[in-house]
Amino acid sequence: MAKEIVFLGMGGTIAGTAQNAGDNVGYTAAQVGVRQLLLALPGLQAVLGARQLRSEQVCQIDSKDLAHSDWLALLERLMHYLSSPDVSAVVVTHGTDTLDETAFFLSRTLPAHLLAHKPVVLTCAMRPANSLAPDGPGNMVDAASVALCGTARGVLVVCAGKVHSAAHVQKVHPYRLDAFDSGEAGPVALVEEGRVRLLSCWPQREGLAFPVALLQGRPWPRVELLLSHAGASGALVRALLHDSAQPLHGLVVAGTGNGTVHKDMEAALLEAMAQGVRVLCVSRCAYGQVVGGSAAVCSGAFASAALSAVKARIALMLEIAAEQ
Ligand code: SIN
Repeated sequence: MAKEIVFLGMGGTIAGTAQNAGDNVGYTAAQVGVRQLLLALPGLQAVLGARQLRSEQVCQIDSKDLAHSDWLALLERLMHYLSSPDVSAVVVTHGTDTLDETAFFLSRTLPAHLLAHKPVVLTCAMRPANSLAPDGPGNMVDAASVALCGTARGVLVVCAGKVHSAAHVQKVHPYRLDAFDSGEAGPVALVEEGRVRLLSCWPQREGLAFPVALLQGRPWPRVELLLSHAGASGALVRALLHDSAQPLHGLVVAGTGNGTVHKDMEAALLEAMAQGVRVLCVSRCAYGQVVGGSAAVCSGAFASAALSAVKARIALMLEIAAEQ
């Protein structure tokens, strides 16, 4: 029997509609189902060949509003489809705003053996589905080309002809069609007229075996994100420590330069650590990472990570969940 490629819909601008087709800004995200998007996709059949097409709507959401439960729903459907011998790859249509977070979350939670021979390719659009010149259809066909190219592995993001790894991708522009960048690592590959040109290596080592059951049926550890800046104080840290809504487990601080933190915020962070809160520092710089590791961050007081702040929050949340 011919293998299947599965498209999972999560919403986003790729599924958005504008009242005026010339408006690429004032639209509503997450209006059109993934099945409908696929029906309107010229060029997909040529990529699919004899393969069967299957689709499922997992969420229909503006990705700025994603909840941890939406990630869990997506993770569960991916594990289901990737486990099936009939499925050769999965493409996920998703909003651009938190796409880098979802990709990173999946790369850390999907079991490595499920990604060893099949890729998960996330794609998106910067213009709504009924735009005069939508970018979603091209991105979806490119995503299918990557998914079915035969060698692609790991969790990937396809946008504007570039293929990024979950580890490095970041949204870097609020409007341009080429809104994603992988910083100093660069894209993994390019898609040119349906052909995939590999520039480095597929991300083979992503998808460490995370005990997914630890995320099911219970609240996830509370890890909040802070930014150190001129004039920063310890007020937010202390407010979080005293917030009775949900206990605080961790704090990620996007520090200045090499992960440094304003001295007033640093004092409050040390208080938080004394109360058992995990503190992780990253650099708020657009490129590079903390040099010298944790030893360089506030004289070794705080751990550091070579990740963007939003990804570091996910990494710390998973680390704490695994220890609970
Ligand atoms: C979203 O992230 O869901 C809306 C914005 C976008 O997809 O570009």
